[in-house]
Amino acid sequence: MSTVHKVFITRNDMPDVGVELLKKQCDVRKWEKASPIPRDEFLKSVAGVNGIYCTLNDKIDKELLDAAGPNLKVVGTISVGYDHIDTAECRTRGVRIGYTPNVLTDATAELTLALLLTTSRRLPEAQNEAKTGGWVSWAPTWMTGPGLAGSTVGIVGFGRIGQAVARRVRAFNTAKILYYNRSEKPEAKEIGACKVGFEELLTQSDFVICCAALVPETKEIFNKSAFEKMKPTAVFVNTSRGGTVDQGALIEALQNNTIRAAGLDVTTPEPLPLDNPLFKLKNCVVLPHIGSATIEARNVMSELTAKNILCALNGSDMPAELK
Ligand code: DGY
Repeated sequence: MSTVHKVFITRNDMPDVGVELLKKQCDVRKWEKASPIPRDEFLKSVAGVNGIYCTLNDKIDKELLDAAGPNLKVVGTISVGYDHIDTAECRTRGVRIGYTPNVLTDATAELTLALLLTTSRRLPEAQNEAKTGGWVSWAPTWMTGPGLAGSTVGIVGFGRIGQAVARRVRAFNTAKILYYNRSEKPEAKEIGACKVGFEELLTQSDFVICCAALVPETKEIFNKSAFEKMKPTAVFVNTSRGGTVDQGALIEALQNNTIRAAGLDVTTPEPLPLDNPLFKLKNCVVLPHIGSATIEARNVMSELTAKNILCALNGSDMPAELK
């Protein structure tokens, strides 16, 4: 008789499609709340499980892997980012990692464009003016912001999402698309994007978009010196991870008009405390990490996470294994 695999899910509001798939083959336990599981509960709940279905809120480190014990075979995260997982420690223990690349690329690229335009065209400020009586008449210089047409857009991190952003940006008749990436990307030619150094990208771009994964080389790559190199008219957008930015330096750059504006879907920490200065700045738009939040993407992400876990538990190839 084959043993039934035990899988622990860290929230009770994961999209049904993946959860139902797991339930057909596994003994599924969940944290019964629609909020991140507290660390002490997490440590207790994973004891003896074979699989963990987690989110980017859940730190998978040595302590957690110890708490799970030697039966743990797979960690499936419902995210493309994996900076919350100690990958080296998983590898040492033979714990396979599943993640969700590709399926959220369009959703994240769409949100990046939405945030770029929301920030540059000052939509929250404009709506607030309309709602609170500031809209006295049409006025020639009121609520103006920089346009994308004819501009130079710089994209830091030119993987799947960076490239998808570039393809969309191109439709706005931009003059130039620059990218900064560890390696040259063959797709860049067809997209019409040009590889440059980080410093050149910062000095040349009217819009700077961060799509880079958070790894040691990109940690706080956007620091005081980076903001000082940008044009004073530059708009900065980050839809990757808050950790790519020295947030104190960004606040200063926005307060002193070192750059024009910033649109952030990611911050440090998350959620951003309500008294954070970023919320008080008119030239900053903050979103609550909703890059991949289309209904379609989240359903497919949940299905892929479940399939990753099931395949690992059955000892077969995973559809999206982090190697
Ligand atoms: C990811 O998947 O890493 C995004 O940040 C959230 O969907």
